[in-house]
Amino acid sequence: MSEIYQPAEDSYLLSENLKKFLPKLLKKNSNAKFLEIGCGSGIQLQTALESGIKKQNIFSVDINKKAVQHCKKLDFNCIQSNLFEKVSGKYSVIVFNPPYLPEDKNEPKDSQLATTGGKKGSEIINKFLKQAKNYLEKGGKIFLITSSLTKGIKFGNWKKTLLTKRKLFFEEIYLWKLEI
Ligand SMILES: C[S@@+](CC[C@H](N)C(=O)[O-])C[C@H]1O[C@@H](n2cnc3c(N)ncnc32)[C@H](O)[C@@H]1O
Repeated sequence: MSEIYQPAEDSYLLSENLKKFLPKLLKKNSNAKFLEIGCGSGIQLQTALESGIKKQNIFSVDINKKAVQHCKKLDFNCIQSNLFEKVSGKYSVIVFNPPYLPEDKNEPKDSQLATTGGKKGSEIINKFLKQAKNYLEKGGKIFLITSSLTKGIKFGNWKKTLLTKRKLFFEEIYLWKLEI
């Protein structure tokens, strides 16, 4: 079974920005519904809770059973699902820190599920971008991490804003806000 992804620079970039954005959203809509695809260790779920999103409005999925078990133990709503496969309903915010790196044959199988997004790195992101609009409330927002190493992202009709970027050793990581 794959290991649970331990919070790293990409996790912190997303979490820091959610801490700024979610309280503003809650001022407009105290019942905002939050969905995370690929919750891993639960760091973003914890951020959502600490930012004031009601626990019953925090939902999450991961394809990795271990991550699902872990987030359930932390008392979050969490199910095993490949992207939106088992998701229903609409959400005010959807966040995804996806596997975004191009395939590297030397990467251990254990960590590939969390880091490798396909041959170009964008395959899972592109599936997510196609499906996500069906799960977003009117005026809803998506927060998505990508990297300078991710090739072939198809943003399509999403209105995108680059919120911030961070230079790491081998790559630059980006945080996007997407709206319909
Ligand atoms: C880079 S980790 C991010 C974990 C955590 N959200 C964070 O910010 O630290 C990516 C997560 O997405 C999950 N994942 C990968 N492919 C997925 C898919 N098709 N559907 C749902 N989750 C997926 C992985 O198991 C992993 O937990």
